[in-house]
Amino acid sequence: MKKTFFTLQLLCIALLVKAQEQWTTIRNGIEWTDTEGYIVQAHGGNFLQVGDRWYLIGEDRAGSWRPDVNLYSTTDFNTWRFEAKIIENYVTHPDLGSSRMIERPKLMYNEKTGKFVVWCHWEAGNYSASEAGVFESDSVAGPYHCVWTGRPLGTKSRDCNIFVDNDGAAYFISTTEENTNLGLFRLSEDYHSAVSETVLFKGERREAPAIAHIGDTYYMISSACTGWDPNQAKIATSKNIAEGWSNLENIGDRIAYDTQSSSILTINGTEGAVYIYVGDRWMDPDLPRSKIIMLPIEFENGKMELRYFDTWEIDLQRGKWRTIDTSKK
Ligand code: DGJ
Repeated sequence: MKKTFFTLQLLCIALLVKAQEQWTTIRNGIEWTDTEGYIVQAHGGNFLQVGDRWYLIGEDRAGSWRPDVNLYSTTDFNTWRFEAKIIENYVTHPDLGSSRMIERPKLMYNEKTGKFVVWCHWEAGNYSASEAGVFESDSVAGPYHCVWTGRPLGTKSRDCNIFVDNDGAAYFISTTEENTNLGLFRLSEDYHSAVSETVLFKGERREAPAIAHIGDTYYMISSACTGWDPNQAKIATSKNIAEGWSNLENIGDRIAYDTQSSSILTINGTEGAVYIYVGDRWMDPDLPRSKIIMLPIEFENGKMELRYFDTWEIDLQRGKWRTIDTSKK
C-alpha cells in the first residue's frame, strides 16, 4: 500500500514537471511569414528583448537593393508580428534610397538614456562610402530619427554589429579599411558616437562579426569576405574584449551550413540560458528569398560548437533546448 502511494506521488511530480515544460519548434530553411501572411523581411539584423517580446530588426530586401529597415516582434519565434518599417528610404533621411543604402541594422537599448539606438552600415551603391549610421527613438517601434552618419573616428567601416556588455558598455564592431581588419569601437554613454577604436584580427579580412559574453569569456563568430556566398565561419575567444583574442578556429561546416553570421541571441530562462547563432542564408541574386537560420550553440569541453538542425525545440521559459528525435516519426 505504502509503495503504491509513493509511486503515485512520483508520477504526479513527473507529470507536474512535464506540464511546466513548454517546447516551441524552431524551423530552419523555410520562409517565415508574419501574421498578415507576408514573408518576414529582416535580414542581417539582430534581436532585442523588451518585456515578454523579442524584437527582430533587419533589412527589408523585398524588391529592393536599397533595403528599408523592418521591425517584427514575437513571443514564440513562430508568430511574427510586423511592427513597423522603422527606417525608410527617402523618408527617414534624404540620402537614403538615393546616394546611400543600409545594411546590417542592429538594435540596442540604452539603460541610461532610455532610448532605442540603431547602428548600421551606411553605404553607397558601390561600397565606396564605407560609413556607419546611427538612429534613435524613444520607443522600440519608432519613429527613429538620424543621429549621425559617417566614418567612425575617420575609419572606413563596412559590415557591422553592436555588442552591449553586462555593465552597459556598448561597442560597434565593423570590418574596416577595405575589409582588412575588424575595428572594435567603444561607444559614448549615449551610444551616439565612437570614442575609441581597437584594431582586432589585423589583416585577417573578417566580416559579419557577432559577439557574445558567456561566463568569463567573450566569443566572436565571423565570416570571410566572399560577397553573398557562404564560407567557413570562424570562432575566437578572449577574456578581455579589447585584447588577447585567440587565433581564429573553424566552427560549423565549411560553408557555415550555407549561412553568414548576423548575431548571437541569448535566451535567459529560469533554469538556464540558450545561446543561438542567427545567420542569413543569402539567396543571391534572389535576395528577398533569403532565409533566417537559427541554430543552438553547443559547448563541448568549453569550446563553442555549431551543428545544423532543420528543426529543434526551445523552452523559452526555462532556457532549455533539445533536438527533435525524428527517428520515431
Ligand atoms: C557580405 C556582407 O556580409 C553583406 O552584408 C553584404 O555587404 C554583402 N557582402 C555584399 O556583397
